[in-house]
Amino acid sequence: HDAVDIIRVKRDGGRLDDGQIDWVIDAYTRGAVAEEQMSALAMAILLRGMDRREIARWTAAMIATGERLDFSRLDRPTTDKHSTGGVGDKITLPLAPLVASFGVAVPQLSGRGLGHTGGTLDKLESIPGWRATLTNDEMLAQLAAAGAVICQAGSGLAPADRKLYALRDVTATVESIPLIASSIMSKKIAEGTGALVLDVKVGSGAFMKNLHDARELARTMVDLGTDAGVRTVALLTDMSTPLGLTVGNALEVRESVEVLRGGGPRDVVDLTVALAQEMLAGAGLDVGTEELHTALSDGRAMDAWKAMIRAQGGDPDAPLPTAREHEVIRAECAGTVTRLDALGVGVAAWRLGAGRARKEDDVQAAAGIEIHAPIGTTVRKGDPLLTLHTDTPERFARALDVAREAIVIGADEDARRLSGAPATHAGIAPREIVLETVR
Ligand code: URA
Repeated sequence: HDAVDIIRVKRDGGRLDDGQIDWVIDAYTRGAVAEEQMSALAMAILLRGMDRREIARWTAAMIATGERLDFSRLDRPTTDKHSTGGVGDKITLPLAPLVASFGVAVPQLSGRGLGHTGGTLDKLESIPGWRATLTNDEMLAQLAAAGAVICQAGSGLAPADRKLYALRDVTATVESIPLIASSIMSKKIAEGTGALVLDVKVGSGAFMKNLHDARELARTMVDLGTDAGVRTVALLTDMSTPLGLTVGNALEVRESVEVLRGGGPRDVVDLTVALAQEMLAGAGLDVGTEELHTALSDGRAMDAWKAMIRAQGGDPDAPLPTAREHEVIRAECAGTVTRLDALGVGVAAWRLGAGRARKEDDVQAAAGIEIHAPIGTTVRKGDPLLTLHTDTPERFARALDVAREAIVIGADEDARRLSGAPATHAGIAPREIVLETVR
């Protein structure tokens, strides 16, 4: 095989055969195909696309460059969830223990945040003592004992993706549905889960800005999982405004613990329950939403959470870090919050120190944003809308700019027209969180 021939085929809109795909992925991972050749091929794929068979083969070839985990020795089925990333998306934290409390194992390999979207590992690391790295044997032992594990993916899983993702990041080739789908699914299939629920985010705070693209990504990933023997479904969920009332690492852990105590914001609870129901269904368990709400309020999910955190060295009862400095944004007029943009809030939290600009950077555990007035809240002039938290007050100025721009307060009439419903109560506006399901 020859890399230039393969690039030319895709450049001219042709389809790559199995041998070409296997060779180019393997040779790239070994260093025998140059970075500039792979970046040309990635751009050709972004512009020309791949068909279902090519994407499946591309995914399989990436999996074949590394190891595959095997949970068949466990005495219970496995199920997992993957979110394409959003703002305030702490759902994994209450979700994994909730599902585990029904006797299904959750082997979740998670990532860190980059840019304005948060990472589950960064959030959990704000819990004193908790550690993200486990060996495969430790992971298996914890699954058997505690039922759930959330840890860092080892470097052995789909190493081709690690290399290719870094290349795509600097060559404007991230936004290709075949490349995103194969990247995510290669890691999830190699992880060895029996069932998978994909939470495909749609809206300003997500990769996919509109329903059309989100549907195509969901369809592509569901087909890939299904073809690989993983029972896969996708929920398309709203990411036009942040999830819940907190954005930032320790702040989101605090809110997740509220959910595990039977409280918490309604959108977070609703999405947790919807995803749990699908995860359990994938593992063969038919559990109603009422039963899931009960497991959140009667302490079963909380017990599973504490066991999971302790197993990884964390103290679930220790106080969480709090920020040294705060700044409150207040309503400049009376009215109803008609917009609280996910991207704006995410960027503001990132600038406060909740996220990182480069992979090597540290995050601040306590930095982030508390939301006092989600969409639909009626406010008076001077009411608090957002509280910004950071340890480094020099960050306030740039965060305040984007945070203020993310909020729109409309006259009550505008709000009614926009939402189609009277938006009068203070608190969480009724929000359709799950937009569609793709099976
Ligand atoms: N997340 C991934 O793991 N890969 C992508 O390509 C995009 C998001």
